[in-house]
This record gives sequence, structure tokens and C-alpha cells, in this order.
Amino acid sequence: MSLVNTRMVGQIAVLEINSPPVNALSVQLRSDMLKALTTIAENTDVAALLLHCAGSTFICGADIREFDAEPLSPHLPEVIARLENFPVPVVALLHGHVLGGGLEVAAACHYRIADPQTNIGLPEVSLGVVPGAGGAQRMMRLVGVENAVQLATSGRAVKVTQPEYNAFCDALLSDTSFSHLEGLLALGLHWVELALQKGELVPRATANMALDQGEVDWEALTAKVARSAKSNPVPNKLLAQLQRDLCLSVQESESHTRHLFLELRQSLVAKALRHAFFLEKKLQAPRGKQPLRIDQVGVIGAGTMGGAIAICFADAGFKVVLLEQSEQALSAGLERIKVQYQGSCDKGRITQQQCDVRISLINGSCDYSDVADVDLVIEAAFESMEVKQSIFAKLDEVCKKSSILATNTSYLDINLIAQATARPESVVGMHFFSPANIMKLLEIVNADQTAPAVVEAMQQLAKKLRKQAVTVGVCFGFAANRMYSRYGREIQQMLLEGASVEQIDNAMLDFGMAMGPLAVLDLSGIDIGHNARAQYPQPEYDPGYFKVSTALVNAGRLGRKTGLGFYNYSTAKPTVDQEVAVLIKKVGDELGIPQQHFNTESIQQRALLAMISEAAQVIEEGIVSEKEAIDLIWLHGYGFPRAKGGPMFMAEQYGIGSLQAKMEKMRELQGEKIWPSLELAQYINQD
Ligand code: COA
Repeated sequence: MSLVNTRMVGQIAVLEINSPPVNALSVQLRSDMLKALTTIAENTDVAALLLHCAGSTFICGADIREFDAEPLSPHLPEVIARLENFPVPVVALLHGHVLGGGLEVAAACHYRIADPQTNIGLPEVSLGVVPGAGGAQRMMRLVGVENAVQLATSGRAVKVTQPEYNAFCDALLSDTSFSHLEGLLALGLHWVELALQKGELVPRATANMALDQGEVDWEALTAKVARSAKSNPVPNKLLAQLQRDLCLSVQESESHTRHLFLELRQSLVAKALRHAFFLEKKLQAPRGKQPLRIDQVGVIGAGTMGGAIAICFADAGFKVVLLEQSEQALSAGLERIKVQYQGSCDKGRITQQQCDVRISLINGSCDYSDVADVDLVIEAAFESMEVKQSIFAKLDEVCKKSSILATNTSYLDINLIAQATARPESVVGMHFFSPANIMKLLEIVNADQTAPAVVEAMQQLAKKLRKQAVTVGVCFGFAANRMYSRYGREIQQMLLEGASVEQIDNAMLDFGMAMGPLAVLDLSGIDIGHNARAQYPQPEYDPGYFKVSTALVNAGRLGRKTGLGFYNYSTAKPTVDQEVAVLIKKVGDELGIPQQHFNTESIQQRALLAMISEAAQVIEEGIVSEKEAIDLIWLHGYGFPRAKGGPMFMAEQYGIGSLQAKMEKMRELQGEKIWPSLELAQYINQD
């Protein structure tokens, strides 16, 4: 069955692409398009061609699933050349997303008309490749060099109505009367008919348009791209290529970016980014058949976390009751929320109307009876079992029977929290990461008695909140904090063995982590983890276990909030503090920890080994049921470099033999309890 349909409407040939869900340019679609174009070109009755897509969107780019195999003919540049050199005017009718190869197709058409809600973008760099069919070069001619380069190197989509991209479309079909695709198509056909009648439509190749180079500050652009691309080298490669080719024709320059595309397609970075793309889709796939019945939510606690959770729900359009103990704490919390929303509005991230609506969705209260009728309550109070149990007992008393009761605890045993209620089946963990309205990761904690329907509802809810959710079981720190703690333990152990604070942070920054682990501790407060650990016995088999944190807390160095932590914050730029080195050395000496020499590679490797070791245990114990959850946690919870795919993706690249040998060595040095022997082959794919 062909993926395209053609029909005549008067003198207009309508070519409809129908390849759900996103009309990706698979080899079959490319081939069907070429066949259809040949037939239409032979028909002398055709005065114009209208190209549009069925379904919710225009073409969303290459079919990423084909990237692991050899590229098959016909290739996209061939389809694009055929469209650009078509004998009659070609008009692209755009809606939904026009991405990657989709934008390259649209840019090669002679005219573009669009629904104003359309998004356009060249996301190739976020998949480790570059637009390989002249899309960036044609966009330079349509919207100017700088705007096109920004689009192609950022990988971000923009609204077609954004002023910088005005010249991309010849018309916006902004008639509000259409509500369906047929309406849009009717408007598109009308536009083409009218333009034909007026004699305004002629074939015109974008590639032949003059290039206005304008005043581009390439140096500044290069620095900006390098800053935002972080550990992904591809945006800068693309930028350099486009700059080098500026004086060349589209065809010549396109052949260079095509070559780059083919070269990059099989690179490790591209594979890692594809891995990240598909694991996100897999874990976000809709689960459960029951419609989600959550309209109104309650949030207990208007502190930093509770406030951010309230924002997260209001952003997604939910009504929120924000509950606090005192009027004073409540008004301070509501004020923080207002300031935050106004800040987003001032920065242009949301409109004033959106800002007002979202603020109005959050209502404060100090009276538990105001959460009696909500469908879901999320408790974000002080991290203490006693406090949480008393809140849950109260919620159980006041909330309607169908309410789901969720806790945002990071470490506490949710089974014990559930015991404070007479409905443990309705109790679940919803573990947000700070700041809750920004961080994408959400752990849904399935406690022993949580009903499957409750877990399903949380998974559906996560999608509405635009979160990347992983479902995990109960253990200390659940999956995410438990793995992060293991990473933290290894970092602190390396400090005790002689690595310096700046060596560690620089090595992990160089690895691509969003922040150095010790700078993170300073930011969040060294006492937070220290207090959480203090409630549990110190593991006797690990004498150095977070002893550096203990020493810093005892010295009153709690991090940024006290002006002193691993770094000194008394000046605008944090500085390394010799006192910390002395403190660490003292602890190491007291424990008799053998010293060794570290370099960037050895620090990175040891940190990664610890992540992989704990991840394998988390899978082995059934704390996560899908192993993809591990990489998702690291990518979205802890700033792991996306271009490296995640610890489990990296483990696959290392190979099991090599990992086993390295872990065995650590086991000999530090013992079986810290480096248990694991059946890695069960959790790590092997080629
Ligand atoms: N190739 C192959 N499959 C694709 C795809 C592509 N370019 N883009 C999306 N899909 C698949 C998804 O994997 C998902 O499959 P599933 O239903 O089996 O899980 C399905 O299409 C729907 O995608 P989803 O992301 O869930 O839909 P959405 O409406 O939330 O978002 C897009 C749609 C197009 C914005 C988003 O999918 C996207 O950004 N895709 C990538 C586009 C891209 O990078 N193109 C350039 C390639 S070089």
C-alpha cells in the first residue's frame, strides 16, 4: 500500500502523505513520493501541486528507526531536487510539526502556507547528525543566515509565527473557522486557486535565491553554540561547515553536509542520542486503559518543594489547593510562586495571561477540609517519618475515598507511611526532583500494597505533567537517590584516597555532567544527605562512608547557604579552599586510607563503574523492572551527558569482560559488600 495519495481538484494536483504517526521519511515514503511526483509531472492538466500530510502533523523528519542500517535509495536529496525543479509551482501546506527532513522538504517547495500553530525545526543535531538534504542552506536563503544557523545548531523547534522566521511562509491560514484538517486543506486549496487565477504562482527554486549574509558575528555564534551544546560536538561541526561553505551554491554546500550526515550517522554520539530518544518514547508510552480521573490536586507544604510541585500542576492546567500549617508560611509560599511566575513572564517564557491564569489556579488554605474533595494529594512536608505519618493519618480521615494519597519523600519507607492510613492501596510515592517544575524526572514509587490502577494513573498523569517517569519499588533512596548516593560515596572515597576537590569536579565536568558532584553538594546543602544518613547505622564494612561530608558538616561548612562548603563562596566566583584539603587529609589519615595518584580518566572511570554497579543491583533486586529506566534516571535526574547515552549505554560500549575485570579489581581492594559480584550479562546488552 502506498504511503501517498494523489487526486486532482480542478487543475491542482493534491499529494497527500499518509504515514502515521509522524509521517517520517522512511525509504518507502521517499520512493512513493518520487513515483507520485513522476506521474503528476507527466500530467499536462496540472497547473500546481499542493503537498500536505494526513494526521496531526506534517513530516517530522527522517525515520530514525532506519538509522542503524545502511541508507537505502532513493535518498532524500533526490526527492528534494525533484520537488525543487518541478515543472509547475509546488505549494507545501504545513501543520503540526515540520521537522528535520520535513523542513528540508518544505524549504525546497516553491511556496509555503501554514496553520499559525505550526512548529518548525531542524532537530538533527539533537540526534547527533546534521540536516543532510540542504535544509540549513535553503533556510539561510529564506530567513537569513543567522536565523537559519540558530535553528540548525540549537535543534530547537520554534513557532512559525516567531518574527525572525516570518519570511519562511508565504501565507498563514489564520481563519479560525477551521477546526479539522479538511478545513485547513480547503483553505489551502482556496489560496492556491486564487493565486493561480491572479497569475501569481510560478515555479521558483529556493536554491536559486540570493544569499544575504548580513552581519553575522561567527565568533560569538560559535561560542554560544559550544556553550549550549555541552558534550555534543555536532552543533559546532555543523556551524563550522556552514560557515566554510557560505560562498558556495546550495548544491555544493549540500553535498558537504550530506557527507557529514553520512559520517555522523554511525558515530557513538549519534547512537547514544538515538538510544536516549527511544528510551524516552518507550517509557512514556501510554499505559492502562482507564481514563485519568484527576482534575483537582492538593499539595501539602508550601515550602520550596511544595511550591514547585504546585507550579508543575498549574503549568499543566490543574487546579491546586496548597495547604500549609500557618497563614504566615502559606502567604510566604504563595508569594514565592507569584514571584516565580512573574519572573517567567518577564523573561518572555509565558504570556501575562498565562501567568495570571496559572497563579489563579493555585489556592492556598490552612484547613485540611479544603483537600477533602481533591482527586490526588501530594505531601511535600518535612522529611520525617513521624511528620509524614501524622499527615497521612489526617488525610485518610478527611479525603474522599477515591483520593490518591502520594508522598514526595526522597528516602523514607512508603510502606510505613501507608500504614498510617486505612487505605494503603491508595498510597503511592511521587518523587519529584528539585526544582520540581523544571526537572523532567519523576519517580513513581510502587509500595507493597499500592493498587496497580493507582500506579497506572500516576504514569498517565506524568505524561500530562510532561515528566519522564520511571516506576520503582521501595528501598532506601528508591532507584535514583540510591544510585546517586553510590556515585557520591565513590566520589568521597576518591577524595579520601588523595584526589582533590577541583580534580574531581573538573573530571566530571569534562565527562559532561551538568555540574561537578561536589559543587552539587554545596548547592543542595551538605547537611541534607548527612541528616538523612544519620537516621541509619553507618555501614561497618565501609569505614570512609561519607566521612568527608560528616567532617564538613561538623566544621559548619554546609555549602552555599553558609558561604563555605567544598568551596569558599565569599567572592562572586567560588574558590578552592585549602582548609577543605586539610580536613579531608586528616580524615583519610585517621582512617589509614592508602593514597594514590588520580587523573581525569581514572576519576571518570571509577565514578562510572560505581554507577553501573549500583544500577545492576537495582535491576537485580527488582527496584526497577525496565532496565531502560536507569539511563533515563541519570539523563533527566542528574545531568548525565545525553551524548553519552547513560551509564548502561556506556556499559555496553565497554563490554562485559572489561567491566567485570575492573569491578573485580575494586572488589579485591574494597571488599565484596561495596563491589558485589554481579551477573552483568543479564543487564547489559552485548553486541
Ligand atoms: N522516526 C521514527 N519514529 C518517530 C520519529 C522519527 N523521526 N518521530 C517520532 N517517532 C515515533 C515515536 O517513537 C513514537 O513511536 P511509538 O508510538 O512507537 O512510541 C511515535 O512516533 C509518536 O511520537 P511521540 O514523540 O510520542 O509523539 P508526540 O506527538 O509527542 O511528538 C514529535 C511528535 C514529532 C514532536 C516527536 O516525536 C519528535 O520530536 N520526533 C523526532 C523528530 C526528529 O528528530 N526528526 C529528525 C530526525 S533526523
